[in-house]
Amino acid sequence: TTFKVGYLIGSLAKESINRKLATALTRVAPEHLTFTEIPIKDLPLYSYDYDADYAPVARAFKGAIAAVDAVLFVTPEYNRSIPGALKDAIDWASRPYGKNSFTRKPTAVIGTSPGAIGTAVGQQHLRSVLGFCNSPQMNAPEAYIQFKPGLITDEGEVTNESTAEFLKTYMAEFHQFIVRLYTALPRDA
Ligand code: FNR
Repeated sequence: TTFKVGYLIGSLAKESINRKLATALTRVAPEHLTFTEIPIKDLPLYSYDYDADYAPVARAFKGAIAAVDAVLFVTPEYNRSIPGALKDAIDWASRPYGKNSFTRKPTAVIGTSPGAIGTAVGQQHLRSVLGFCNSPQMNAPEAYIQFKPGLITDEGEVTNESTAEFLKTYMAEFHQFIVRLYTALPRDA
């Protein structure tokens, strides 16, 4: 069985190192996973005034999450937390009340930063938010990737052998996590 993974990149920057990491992850992933980016950059700032009539861009965003079996978050840490744009996207997905797109949607979190902490603190905040959104999360392996210049090329090639192996293991584990969840419960349950 093939499973569809949608990935969200927490950065809006053109030269985002987390975008490079996402590309690398899709390259080393098991062949039974397919990937689509779920873009967040065109979402306005959410307010509940939109609940009665969600903007087309927000409907498309929720539709894209509904269309995938699992979601992978690849995100930087901003000021030891989640980038505002990513939090806004999650807020859009979680509403209108009773139509939370993340309910029972399996997720995993990974990120990279030039700093040695490698987005660890931001990831903890994201996990807390996803927990509230009732998303089953892959607990392990955790992945805090310190980005050194040249670590990942624009094409997503990982130049460090042990990092490449680690990312491959991470994606193999994510695949197994998804398989276990959907084996326990039919996809449309
Ligand atoms: C950062 N950066 C950063 N890095 C980190 O490790 N911990 C942090 O708390 C922060 N805080 C932070 C806040 C803001 C507003 C910016 C713009 C940056 C540095 C950050 O890791 C670096 O810019 C990365 O390149 C961000 O990843 P992307 O956007 O390139 O994927």
